[in-house]
Amino acid sequence: MTSATYRIAPSILSADFARLGEEVRQVIAAGADWIHFDVMDNHYVPNLTFGPMVLQALKSHAVTPTGQPVPLDVHMMVQPVDALAQAFAQAGADLISFHPDASGHAHRSVQAIKAAGCQAGLVFNPAAPLDVLDWLIEDIDLILIMSVNPGFGGQSFIDSALRKIEAARKRIDATGKDIRLEVDGGIKAANIRQVADAGADTFVAGSAIFGQKDYAKVIAEMRRGLQK
Ligand code: DX5
Ligand code: ZN
Repeated sequence: MTSATYRIAPSILSADFARLGEEVRQVIAAGADWIHFDVMDNHYVPNLTFGPMVLQALKSHAVTPTGQPVPLDVHMMVQPVDALAQAFAQAGADLISFHPDASGHAHRSVQAIKAAGCQAGLVFNPAAPLDVLDWLIEDIDLILIMSVNPGFGGQSFIDSALRKIEAARKRIDATGKDIRLEVDGGIKAANIRQVADAGADTFVAGSAIFGQKDYAKVIAEMRRGLQK
């Protein structure tokens, strides 16, 4: 694999919801590359989180200490997909990924997200096959592999995800395109190297980061784990 540009994408699912703006600023100052928004509708997954208004409110906080905007990476665990994806695009999302089984027309949903000016991603649950990539990989910017069952933070990493990451990496390399390969669920400093070795380049971590007092320390530990 080419020299990977690894990205750490803290999920605000495990942040202090009473201080989200501050949490976003702090985790970026601690070295986060993206901010991951876990959007849940209590229909596609058994949990309910937040809508586009929260992303809009956090957009101004999602900047580096020198004022550089940080990409807002929206993971939509919702059904249906299209209207809410447009609302997140309007609210200022940079990347919007959805579960193809939650959209009746995944190709059209990808087109609509890109027409709204966002990068588009597809998300694969632990038992979901990658087949839809046969018809969509040329159109997307991101593949998100779930290494837990979607709905809650703090779960354990599902090892079979490593095989799916390897398979997705092969598909990406065959296209020659710069498609991000993101993994979500149970990522820690202790296993991040193994996940990178399988082919991932972008790592969602919620409880491993927000569950610690010192965000910079745990992100630095993750980065050390990613060095060969
Ligand atoms: C599941 C969520 C979680 C979250 C990461 O639906 O998507 O995977 O982002 O949670 P941790 O890092 O605590 O497993
Ligand atoms: Zn997520």
